[in-house]
Amino acid sequence: AFSNLYGVHPFYMCIENDFNAHGVLLLNSNAQDVTLSPFPSITFRTIGGVLDFYMFLGPTPENVIQQYTEAIGRPYMPPYWSLGFQLCRWGYNSIDVLKKTVERLRQYDIPHDVQYGDIDYMERHLDFTYDKANFAGLPEYIKELKNDGLHYVIILDPFLTKDEPQGTYKPYELGEELGIWVNNSDGVTPFVGKAWPPGDSVYPDYTNPQTAEWWIHMCTEFKNVLDYDGIWIDMNEPANFHSDHHPNCEENNLNYPPYVPDISGGLLAEKTLCPNSKTYLGYHYDTHSLFGWSQAKPTFYASQNATGKRAFVLSRSTFVGSGKYTGHWLGDNFSRWKDMHMSIIGMLEFNLFGIPYIGADICGFNEETTYELCLRWMQLGAFYPFSRNHNAIGNKEQDPGAFGEEFAEISRSALRIRYLLLPYLYTLFYHAHVSGNTVVRGLMHEFTSDPQAQEIDRAFLWGPALMIAPVLEEGARSVDVYFPEASWFDFYTGSHVPVSWKRRFVDVPAPLDIIPLFIRGGYILPTQFPARTTELSRLNPFSLIIALDEQGEASGSLFWDDGDSIDSIEREEYFYVEYQFSNKALKATVIKNGYHGIATLAYDTIQVLGFTSKPNVVFMNGETIPSNRIQYNSNGKTILWISVPLFQELTISFAY
Ligand code: NOJ
Repeated sequence: AFSNLYGVHPFYMCIENDFNAHGVLLLNSNAQDVTLSPFPSITFRTIGGVLDFYMFLGPTPENVIQQYTEAIGRPYMPPYWSLGFQLCRWGYNSIDVLKKTVERLRQYDIPHDVQYGDIDYMERHLDFTYDKANFAGLPEYIKELKNDGLHYVIILDPFLTKDEPQGTYKPYELGEELGIWVNNSDGVTPFVGKAWPPGDSVYPDYTNPQTAEWWIHMCTEFKNVLDYDGIWIDMNEPANFHSDHHPNCEENNLNYPPYVPDISGGLLAEKTLCPNSKTYLGYHYDTHSLFGWSQAKPTFYASQNATGKRAFVLSRSTFVGSGKYTGHWLGDNFSRWKDMHMSIIGMLEFNLFGIPYIGADICGFNEETTYELCLRWMQLGAFYPFSRNHNAIGNKEQDPGAFGEEFAEISRSALRIRYLLLPYLYTLFYHAHVSGNTVVRGLMHEFTSDPQAQEIDRAFLWGPALMIAPVLEEGARSVDVYFPEASWFDFYTGSHVPVSWKRRFVDVPAPLDIIPLFIRGGYILPTQFPARTTELSRLNPFSLIIALDEQGEASGSLFWDDGDSIDSIEREEYFYVEYQFSNKALKATVIKNGYHGIATLAYDTIQVLGFTSKPNVVFMNGETIPSNRIQYNSNGKTILWISVPLFQELTISFAY
């Protein structure tokens, strides 16, 4: 069914007939319809606010997003651990089930960096509490997880019950004293709704600076109870279970305007607050779509303040500019093949919106998943920037350890490819943070003049260089992949795909244990040997995959820092190296050497894809590499075994 989702982004990017792209933002937070027609035309119809339009002239799609994010705020730099695999479910219901689940991932050696607590960790769904009966020992267990290199993220909801006995629930009482709730139209009495906690709830008004202070204080204090690493903010549309209000919202023009956009229920107050309720910034009528946005910034500082480390925030509701403070998941999907496909579209959209830290609930949230759907989804999800398996209460277990040996093994190998490529992914996030590039992008961003590329929503790219073409259909053992004009290499074998595949759809094999992946010639990808957590993988040797284009050239870069300190870029405590391959030689130029931890890291292999024969001699910084350190295989993959510190500048030349 078509209905409004969790957030609003009145922004579009368009590729015109001459293949130049532009973008338009209508910076307006009111309820609105957006209608497309094939003329082509687009109509925005909003029921309030200002009509501020901003144009972004491109001319390339990447330029449009760079310009857009320059205006609205560039994406935050994620902590390195948050690029690892994450596991969640609503309804572990007990610490024993939680422990058993984590333990089986460990047994199968499945990469696992982040564990979540959904609302069942709380006592009776009260924010800033934990269930001391069903989750007895949770604080100690979190410490244990952290000692093992994992991180723990807690959910917090934006409503607090007002009906606990006096003197027992401080978060509410303090907020009540400060007067920081969203109010009724009188501006003084709190708006009352119904949500998870027992009794009725009030809603913190995050547009009020005092609320931000209260929130940061509460989150920081709670860190002493549960030693969390990040905050997941849910239900912040905001949600209210009284869709039909008791009593109903007053009859007036704000609550029942003459025109209501095509939203679910046909009522502005449907499952949320009365439009005439009042926030610090004005009527909810005007600020409804800003609720999640207004919560993201204080939560970012709460996370930072509480942990003393780089913030991690995951928000369900977002608006223009949210990407500066939060990542996003696509919300409550279903365990259906169609939803798996839709997740690619959602991921591409949020990269346009300046929120590249994005993913969907792997294996599906609502309804029961199946072995094959979940397995294919683990493979696709291994390439979501935000890679989290999450499930709804009542459904049977769907973590990658729940389906036995074969499933675990296949999930493990997909996730190990992710971990191998994390230095490349992290570097893409660096470029997104400083220049506003997308992280995941559609083929049309790179092949702007190829009309076919504009149609592709079943495959996607990581940056410019890696194409992911997942299986999205039950029973399929191959995928129809479109290869735009470029040199492509099979990720698994390193072999060149046939020239005849270019600008064509080709059915490529995809047995159950394989997700088709292709590297684009012209690019150099930094990689690192995988491990069970990023804490461990970050100590491992690095490699470069150099995929040559038709001219025999390639380029790339690597960004590295300690992965979790605040503002390492602003403080210049990072390492940045640029790679250039031309005239049969690789040059690594260190642009920034500001991270002391680089000293213990080293390259152990260099792979070149695209040579047609074995080089006679290879020189590294003037010295000959012994021939037993050079391997050339018939696929055209050349491997050099070296041992060189990462900070060292490199010149490696190949002679024939
Ligand atoms: C709704 C969220 O979308 C979902 O991910 C979560 O599990 C439930 N709320 C319970 O907190």
